[in-house]
Amino acid sequence: MFFYVTSAQKKITYAEHIQPILRSHCISCHRPNDVAPFSLLSYEDVAPRAGFIEHVTSTKYMPPWRADSSFSHFKNENLLSEQDILMIKQWVADGRTKGKMKKRASKENAASPEISAASSESVTYKRFSMQKPFNIKGDGKEQFRFFHIPFNNPDSQFISSIRFIPGNKKLVHHSRVMTDTTLAISGIDGMSADDTASYAFQSKPLSDPFLFGWVPGNNRIKFPANTTKLLYPHTDLLLNIHYAPSPVNDTDSSLVEIGFTKERPEREIQTLTLTEDYISNKPFLIKANQISKFYLRYDPLQEDISLISIMPHMHLLGKSFRAFAVTPDGELIKLIHIPRWDFNWQMSYTFKQFVKLPKGTIIYAEGEYDNTINNPRNPNHPVKNVGLGWGTKDEMMNLVIYFVPYRVGDENIEL
Ligand code: HEC
Repeated sequence: MFFYVTSAQKKITYAEHIQPILRSHCISCHRPNDVAPFSLLSYEDVAPRAGFIEHVTSTKYMPPWRADSSFSHFKNENLLSEQDILMIKQWVADGRTKGKMKKRASKENAASPEISAASSESVTYKRFSMQKPFNIKGDGKEQFRFFHIPFNNPDSQFISSIRFIPGNKKLVHHSRVMTDTTLAISGIDGMSADDTASYAFQSKPLSDPFLFGWVPGNNRIKFPANTTKLLYPHTDLLLNIHYAPSPVNDTDSSLVEIGFTKERPEREIQTLTLTEDYISNKPFLIKANQISKFYLRYDPLQEDISLISIMPHMHLLGKSFRAFAVTPDGELIKLIHIPRWDFNWQMSYTFKQFVKLPKGTIIYAEGEYDNTINNPRNPNHPVKNVGLGWGTKDEMMNLVIYFVPYRVGDENIEL
């Protein structure tokens, strides 16, 4: 086995080697009052958990980045190098030496909490909060709840950024912001996704079912310069929040902060949602006791487009996901591969630069589902056939793509 440095050379210390790794890859979440369950800011925080840290880094469970970096790269990628992983391993094996800490200005010690987006002249930030705090029962059960936030804007509004601010950082596991213009969701305040009444509005198409998907650490998206996501007149927001199980009663009031520009930016971001309709091996029915693969093929593009971000979506039976595009010249453009689908860490992946897909390109996706008892997340005991539906116990296969019509030079623009 290869070790970064042998003991005859220099000893690996926390101060010199380990702390910098944790500072760049972990503490954005692992600091007091943030989303992770404990802080990793100090040696005293880290040393007693060193074995655990070695385990979660060598299995690549942490940092929680689920996309395969040998397939494609993204702006928000957070991965340890093999060398970092080995360094942590060896530090643990060598006895977790602290080493000589450099003196540091004290304010650098504590990572600064996320700075609230400052209002600039051209952008106004508006906060949308849940209508009232939600009471989370201490019954040790996870739950999925819907919350309607009325807005009912008279005119179109131009979104430049979206931020989700979890109220209860320990229990808000992930959330999705959707928009509706039909008033179908009005009055829904804390309705459970298990409630049969929720099926009624879930069967109607919303104007944007995937405006923003939040997981811990993915706090804010900002759209590229000169682009905007349009909020249609008379829009209300709908939050779908997944709460982790809690042993004690607790509450949550989460909110969404949206940045609106006064002027209409030149380029409107459009959403292309590849749904189950495009599956080529229908029916989309995941048979009990089987691992099944579905293939999706989207019609040739009618124009040149520039991709901004991409978000695969499956539920608890998801096992792996892959998407790619083939241009009319036969060029393969790899979009995303998630080798081990993780329901808890689904997010939007923003490309480093606009990705051009020329007219005539065909987008393909493959979703693999494990409907056996070997899937620890399988919600059905005993296992049963599962088909299409919004409910967490049903399944979906979506690829949500944000794009703008292509302009010459886009592929050189950093996002
Ligand atoms: C994007 C936010 C985020 C980042 C970055 C992150 N973590 Fe975590 N971490 C979490 C959350 C949330 C949990 C608790 C939920 C879970 O286990 O998935 C967690 C759990 C853990 C656990 C406990 C796992 C368990 O099974 O209970 C360890 C250990 C850990 N993280 C170490 C690290 C280390 C080391 C890094 C950096 C290399 C890191 N984390 C980066 C958010 C993060």
